[in-house]
Amino acid sequence: MAKSSKQWLRRHVTDPYVRKAKEQGYRSRSAFKLLEMNQKEKLLKAGMTVVDLGAAPGGWSQVAAEKVRPGGRVIAIDLLEIAPITGVTALKGDFRESSLLEALGSAKADVVLCDAAPNLSGIALTDQARQLELAEAAVDLCRKALKPEGVFVVKAFHGSAFDAMVRTLRSAFASVRTVKPAASRGESAETYVVARRLSAEQETA
Ligand SMILES: C[S@@+](CC[C@H](N)C(=O)[O-])C[C@H]1O[C@@H](n2cnc3c(N)ncnc32)[C@H](O)[C@@H]1O
Repeated sequence: MAKSSKQWLRRHVTDPYVRKAKEQGYRSRSAFKLLEMNQKEKLLKAGMTVVDLGAAPGGWSQVAAEKVRPGGRVIAIDLLEIAPITGVTALKGDFRESSLLEALGSAKADVVLCDAAPNLSGIALTDQARQLELAEAAVDLCRKALKPEGVFVVKAFHGSAFDAMVRTLRSAFASVRTVKPAASRGESAETYVVARRLSAEQETA
């Protein structure tokens, strides 16, 4: 086994969030990132409509479905299959295509979550640019599908494209804050941005 795979395996086996996810029935340790952000930022409430972009295997969707009960709904999409989750409409495909908006119909979302990540090439500049592209596509989707008073949460990576991502978000939202949940590994450049109050002039039909 390659050294990097051994390191990953050791970290995975000893990771307290992996153990907690197993114990609590979450499909991914990522669920704890959303639980923590939700506690701090008060994102999810009963009755809300939530869109989850890049949702597989479904940890965030599980958390969102729990929090919007009763009366809410979650529409989740990923390039990969998402096994069924009660209260979640799971779609397979690219969120930049139309099936998601069709599933939402005339409704608008209270919260758009985007934990989507590109396949990493290992070349930092390329990976950052791809992540920025996904975030920009998610902002476009917010302009079509998020309520003006809604909240957008998006994964970002510190590095060369981070300022561009924040600029994109500031051009579309009145409030933009960076959050690093404890479950996001300290050594990782990963962080999250919580954006609120979509600018009215940026919305498209
Ligand atoms: C870090 S995982 C998401 C983990 C998820 N939040 C959870 O809690 O289980 C990132 C996902 O983004 C998906 N993804 C990347 N680009 C996408 C796209 N254009 N459309 C839909 N999904 C995408 C990947 O297939 C991958 O499953």
